[in-house]
Amino acid sequence: MSKNDSPIAIFDSGMGGLTVVKEIHKLIPGKDIIYLGDTARVPYGTKSSDVIKGYAKQITQFLLTFNPQIIVIACHTVSSLALNFLKKNFPQILFIDVVSPSAKKSINITQNYRVAVIGTPATIASGKYQNLIKTLNPKIKIFSQACPLFVPLVEEGLITGDIPYLIAKKYLSGLIDKRIDTLILGCTHYPILKNIIQKVVGEDIKLIDASEVVAIKVKNLFKEKNMIEYRKEKKPLLYFTDITKDHKKIINFFWNDSKMIVRRIIL
Ligand code: DGL
Repeated sequence: MSKNDSPIAIFDSGMGGLTVVKEIHKLIPGKDIIYLGDTARVPYGTKSSDVIKGYAKQITQFLLTFNPQIIVIACHTVSSLALNFLKKNFPQILFIDVVSPSAKKSINITQNYRVAVIGTPATIASGKYQNLIKTLNPKIKIFSQACPLFVPLVEEGLITGDIPYLIAKKYLSGLIDKRIDTLILGCTHYPILKNIIQKVVGEDIKLIDASEVVAIKVKNLFKEKNMIEYRKEKKPLLYFTDITKDHKKIINFFWNDSKMIVRRIIL
């Protein structure tokens, strides 16, 4: 890891990664954070692997100009499809992805060895979560479901009431029938729908919120290296590749907080 005063860089396909920024900022508020949300090209979850890799490479090149200590890939789609590619292309920087900490947590908390993951079509089709969990513990039965309408629901602000409830029910009923006891929210946007999802699956199924899990991993990493200084709270610097009136509304929706600086960047 590079110098103590350099920032943590975080990126996502759009606004959703702000769920990760929020949790990391909460745990280590004295660290500078640089965020890039690729709002001009979101969603990634319906795109091909080659396109996603190309975008991720371009974003990494931009973030490296800030000389970050680490780069957190807040996007599950990028973590699933492009992590190895990024590690190979940028060996000089440590990448933290959202898939591995959530997969590890799921095997630690399941009691009946029946786990499910939900995510974008690209994340689920990649098989990354499924393969990793199987490798970590071959006894676990893993189920999965793509939930393509969840991202637009969140971006439209439709997070309570009948519409998200019925859609969640349609996607999740099959998983409940499989008698899972643990459900990984494998997408940046899904923590926003946590209440609805919990209502649909019932209180007995434990939800794994990747944004919380990855924030703990990042904090522990800095603690191990003795690199947490208790300095005064920093304002995260958020770059977006596009900012419209709607985007401003959505930024506040993910993180209703004025303690951030927002800028536009053309990559
Ligand atoms: N950030 C993406 C993810 O976590 C969701 C939005 C998209 O499809 O780009 O998979």
